[in-house]
Amino acid sequence: MPPELQNSYTRLLRPLLFRLDPETAHRLTIAALSLMPLKRPASDPPELATTVFGVRFANPVGLAAGLDKDARAIRAWNALGFGFAELGTVTPRPQPGNTQPRMWRLPAHRALINRLGFPGEGMEAVAARLSRLPKDRPAMRVALNFGPNKDTPPERVAEDYAALTRRLAHFADMIVVNLSSPNTPGLREWQAPERMRAIVDAVRAAMPSTVPAESRAITPSNPPRPPILVKIAPDLNSSQINEVCAAAVDLAIDGIVATNTTLMREEIGVSARFAGGLSGAPLLVRSREVVAQVYRETSGRMPIIGVGGIASADDAYGHLCAGASLVEFYTGMIYRGPGLAREIKRGLVRLLARDGFRSISEAVGSAARK
Ligand SMILES: Cc1cc2nc3c(=O)[nH]c(=O)nc-3n(C[C@H](O)[C@H](O)[C@H](O)COP(=O)(O)O)c2cc1C
Repeated sequence: MPPELQNSYTRLLRPLLFRLDPETAHRLTIAALSLMPLKRPASDPPELATTVFGVRFANPVGLAAGLDKDARAIRAWNALGFGFAELGTVTPRPQPGNTQPRMWRLPAHRALINRLGFPGEGMEAVAARLSRLPKDRPAMRVALNFGPNKDTPPERVAEDYAALTRRLAHFADMIVVNLSSPNTPGLREWQAPERMRAIVDAVRAAMPSTVPAESRAITPSNPPRPPILVKIAPDLNSSQINEVCAAAVDLAIDGIVATNTTLMREEIGVSARFAGGLSGAPLLVRSREVVAQVYRETSGRMPIIGVGGIASADDAYGHLCAGASLVEFYTGMIYRGPGLAREIKRGLVRLLARDGFRSISEAVGSAARK
């Protein structure tokens, strides 16, 4: 990021936004971004290009789920230089989410706590918005993140994921099955292998047999169907992570997103007592551990999207070297501003050159091979 842009965010805009309550600041930012007629900047350096689960990315830096739940600002994410944006969590029906207050900043920790509970407009509104996107397609890839409605009874949760897949798969370059938000009661229990199988089977059965590239509303990608990834929690213990890995390999899932927010507090040096999922800097070490374990446990064969606490090029590079093929952030953008994707890309080019890697894929998992 040009230093002046970084400075103007942290010195001018951030203090203004931080005077507002977090949700108002978020709403205003998304509204402003969705109105901006933005163009993507110069193309990315070739060493940042990477192909993961058959999908080609101009760079490995993505927007994490939750920031743009209703797919309002796709063109802005593209213009900010992201290689991909994960939109959602989308639920089948609109829902208000939990009662407010439900989001807190912890500036001393560069962290957030939220218990939003998937507020959103539902899949029809998201489909309408995606179908209205102009045909000059952004270079960026689009992941759609799916979750069940809060009032869906357990025996119908798989049907929610199936309905989302039927309605939205043809807009997606990849689908993320979210089984790990802490704010929808019971959701994390679906990470248990047999229950995960039920969800993945339902998603597969609902997937159109082929999704022709020309009908993709956003970005035609190479595979006939969007790959399916599962997003997991950082609060699984070591044997649970191994079970998830075994199930993922057994089910031939295309990738794992690690990790969602955490319920940990004292263990990661935070004393705040608000209930909800914690994100940002205190999560960095734990999310990297989970990435490294998944990489090891699947012998580097299961593509991983690493997320949790990334707020600099060094952070992103650390996750890549631990085994992530792609990285994402949310909270880092709140503290560092809209130029963070660009700053990370520039730093990655420098770090690859320093370590003698010619491409991102050469760096992926390099820490595990040492
Ligand atoms: C306010 C907020 C809302 C979020 N909403 C979602 C969501 O709807 N679905 C999801 O899978 N993850 C959601 N996340 C989790 C992020 O995608 C990410 O996994 C987590 O915050 C760790 O990354 P970070 O430290 O870069 O924020 C949310 C995070 C925050 C802070």
